[in-house]
Amino acid sequence: MCGIVGYVGNKNAQDFLISGLRRLEYRGYDSAGIVSLDGNGEPTLLRAKGKISNLEEKLAKNKREDKIGIGHTRWATHGEPSEVNAHPHRAGKIFLVHNGIIENYKELKEQLKKSHEFKSETDTEVLAALINSFYGDGKYPLLNAVVQALKLVKGTYGIAVVSTDLPDEIVVARSGSPLVIGVGNDETLIASDASALVGHTKKAIYLNDGEVAVVTKNNINIKTLNAEPVSAKVEEIETNLSAIQKGEYEHFLLKEIMEQPESLIETLRGRVNVETGTVRLGGPGLTNEELRQIKHLVIVGCGTAYHAGLLAMYYIEQFAPEISIETVIASEYRYRQAYIPKDSVALIVSQSGETADTLACLRGIKKQGIKTIGIVNAIGSTIAREVDGGTYVHVGPEISVASTKAFTSQVVAMVMFGLTIAQAKGVKPGILRPYVEEIAKLPEEISRVLTEMKEPIKEIANKYIKYDHAIYLGRDVAYPTVMEGALKLKEVAYVDANAYAFGELKHGPLSLIDDRFFEMALILDGELYDKTVSNTQEVLARGGHIVAITNVAGFDLPAEDVVKITTDLKIFVPILMNLIMQLFAYYVTVAKGYNVDQPRNLAKSVTVE
Ligand code: AGP
Repeated sequence: MCGIVGYVGNKNAQDFLISGLRRLEYRGYDSAGIVSLDGNGEPTLLRAKGKISNLEEKLAKNKREDKIGIGHTRWATHGEPSEVNAHPHRAGKIFLVHNGIIENYKELKEQLKKSHEFKSETDTEVLAALINSFYGDGKYPLLNAVVQALKLVKGTYGIAVVSTDLPDEIVVARSGSPLVIGVGNDETLIASDASALVGHTKKAIYLNDGEVAVVTKNNINIKTLNAEPVSAKVEEIETNLSAIQKGEYEHFLLKEIMEQPESLIETLRGRVNVETGTVRLGGPGLTNEELRQIKHLVIVGCGTAYHAGLLAMYYIEQFAPEISIETVIASEYRYRQAYIPKDSVALIVSQSGETADTLACLRGIKKQGIKTIGIVNAIGSTIAREVDGGTYVHVGPEISVASTKAFTSQVVAMVMFGLTIAQAKGVKPGILRPYVEEIAKLPEEISRVLTEMKEPIKEIANKYIKYDHAIYLGRDVAYPTVMEGALKLKEVAYVDANAYAFGELKHGPLSLIDDRFFEMALILDGELYDKTVSNTQEVLARGGHIVAITNVAGFDLPAEDVVKITTDLKIFVPILMNLIMQLFAYYVTVAKGYNVDQPRNLAKSVTVE
């Protein structure tokens, strides 16, 4: 997924474009570019491979006082990261930046080769040439040319377009990739997400799929592709500057790990009543009768969101009677011919609210007439706006590509949704109260564990940076938890870390154990403790190098490192154990000197399939 910015107003466009791209760099960062136009439409096009800083070096030699421009930071889909493939792309007088995928770009390119000399391998340059083929060197209005072109496009797009004929207007459009318009005083700002607008304006208009707009510094005219006028709904941008800055931390990842007490408090705000031992979620918008009718839950997500759904499934099964739950990977589920019983509800889990596979599942499930509930963080995101109801997790912007605080709050939000079902079904309060009480205690417990464990985990992590392979092990609620822990180490430290259910080890993976690997083992107190201990001994007997994370004070197996978590929680201990694995992944990555917040090959939200 890529980052798009645009500016038209009375201030310096290049300054906003660069600062906006810096805010969006987490969305894609293998190349970047901007184009600005002076009052006569004279363009200054600057593009660079790699980080925004490379683009800034070029800008320093090409500063202009231009008042209009567009910019882009890229996560490559078609064509390698390079200057020639970087956006903006030009065709005649047209400059275009694009987030998404033009699926029929090859056939369009064949048709356009006669009129346009292609320089890049990108699908975006094809779209620029297509728009230009309708623009006719300025014979037709830019908006009409964009609309005509988009009607021939199959795929997804969020675009911003300028023409050297019109150094006072930007045309934007979206279908499947987010685009937000910032309403300023005598200026209008464009971005792929609101974080680029923070500090410039608090008023935003979120374009919907199939909408196109012409924006100038003091006018925003939105239409559908069929030229029907759209009345703009101006919304408040909730984020503030400190939420999108690292502050005292060296990396966003550590900041977002350490702010989990506060972010979870925001998730719980107004939703938990310890006195009555109940929770209340207004967002899903389901009546008690509708809640009582629910027999099946389908929980849909990708990556960390999927792991959160798996963990929530284990918990909800513990207290919600006669409910079958299936947690699925969105990119698989969207192509399955899965039958969903009518008395189902689907939980659509997504931090960004823009993940293409998850969005596709949402749309497919809605077509089956199943009610969809969003468990989303990004306010106003596409998924948040298309679900039937939902619960925002309110953790604030999550900038680091590796998701941390969102996971914790997604799990708790879904457990609270399960509790509302159980409450409606008349489950005895005595069964539900322990969950509510522990949820209320979690922020404080998270704060204590993070404070106590930060330094010890840093020391332990430094002992394991020599390993390129790891096996993460857990049983029951610890199994989805180690899946998440392994993903963290994989995505930021590039370690081949894979999670297995402890009980599965002897069915194959045990053969892997040798000095190439270390093992991360979650050992929970409770009825499965003895089995887990014997599984751990199986690993030790084969020379395993174990990091054991446990809440059992008496645990005394000869693991290489033992991390003992003292807590009076009994239910949500895996949430605390996950903090340890988050810190472990962070410190291993720092010790390796890798880019903690922008790991190679990844982007924060994958809005392409
Ligand atoms: C998590 O650390 C990853 N960055 C990734 O797996 C992410 O969770 C996944 O892409 C889903 O994103 P979403 O929650 O924004 O839908």
